[in-house]
Amino acid sequence: MKVAVLGAAGGIGQALSLLLKTQLPAGSELSLYDVAPVVPGVAVDLSHIPTAVKVTGHGKDDLAEALTGCDIVLIPAGVPRKPGMDRSDLFNINAGIVKALVEGIADNCPDACTCIITNPVNTTVAIAAETLKAKGVYNKNKLFGVTTLDVIRAETFVADLKGLDPANTHVPVIGGHSGTTILPLLSQVEGVEFSDDEVASLTTRIQNAGTEVVEAKAGGGSATLSMGQAAARFCLSLVAAMQGDNVVEYTYVQTDDSDDAAFFSHPVRLGANGVEEILPYGELSAFEQKAKDDMLEGLRGDIKIGVEFVNG
Ligand SMILES: NC(=O)c1ccc[n+]([C@@H]2O[C@H](COP(=O)([O-])OP(=O)(O)OC[C@H]3O[C@@H](n4cnc5c(N)ncnc54)[C@H](O)[C@@H]3O)[C@@H](O)[C@H]2O)c1
Repeated sequence: MKVAVLGAAGGIGQALSLLLKTQLPAGSELSLYDVAPVVPGVAVDLSHIPTAVKVTGHGKDDLAEALTGCDIVLIPAGVPRKPGMDRSDLFNINAGIVKALVEGIADNCPDACTCIITNPVNTTVAIAAETLKAKGVYNKNKLFGVTTLDVIRAETFVADLKGLDPANTHVPVIGGHSGTTILPLLSQVEGVEFSDDEVASLTTRIQNAGTEVVEAKAGGGSATLSMGQAAARFCLSLVAAMQGDNVVEYTYVQTDDSDDAAFFSHPVRLGANGVEEILPYGELSAFEQKAKDDMLEGLRGDIKIGVEFVNG
């Protein structure tokens, strides 16, 4: 199993690479790429941890070597938010970065599973899809927007509120990865009852959790450590599924459900070839149905911006 992290010298990239160095199966290779000159040093640093995972570092002219032979590519490259910024404010810089890196994937490892972390995810996943289509190598089963952070936040906040073990608390989160497009399905949390006030305030907290971190870091960036954990969880689930385990994760994938949006986070059964099956997200409460109806137009608009960025 060869896994690449593009943007590996950044806040997310380093946390994620550390977790993968310690948790990927023995015999795996971890390929770190970044335009920042520190990336070979990050690779040397990680290589001193005694696990049977080989780490290589690749600088800006070395993208082809970083990607050749990859099974999974994770992309956290780009700029993060500062206080007062919305995820869509990142579009101008991050759109071009994602397009260039995905072109590298198309040229060097077109069969890899590509996992997009770079914001705005609602749009950058559409950019990746259109870029792969333009190169003639798009496989909708192998492109994922990583929304796992919304799931782990929801699990943490619900467990805190209800005094549960967070490791055994499961909260579905569907939709997109920005503001009201993030839709936690609190009505489906097993064994827990919420009042209407709790549903309203928890939903808002989960949707704004990224901003909570951005404001607390006061100009120093956005979530990196919790995002590293979320991306590692998603990547390790994908690795396990590719090796034959039955794994379901919520992730932002292309759906053929015209009632929602072209990309939408669903529970997805992962398998040897990426998406094995997109599972239904089940019955929504009246609150969730209204929240979904109200956000769909915005999500479709975010996706359209990505399609137009690539196709003009
Ligand atoms: N999906 C999510 O839930 C989620 C959560 C938090 C942050 N993010 C996003 O992840 C991205 C990275 O955040 P961060 O905090 O790690 O930022 P960071 O600034 O700490 O790191 C970004 C890294 O990307 C590198 N980079 C820039 N251009 C590149 C290119 N063309 N090729 C390779 N590397 C390049 C930079 O050198 C830097 O090392 C941001 O867009 C942020 O909004 C997503």
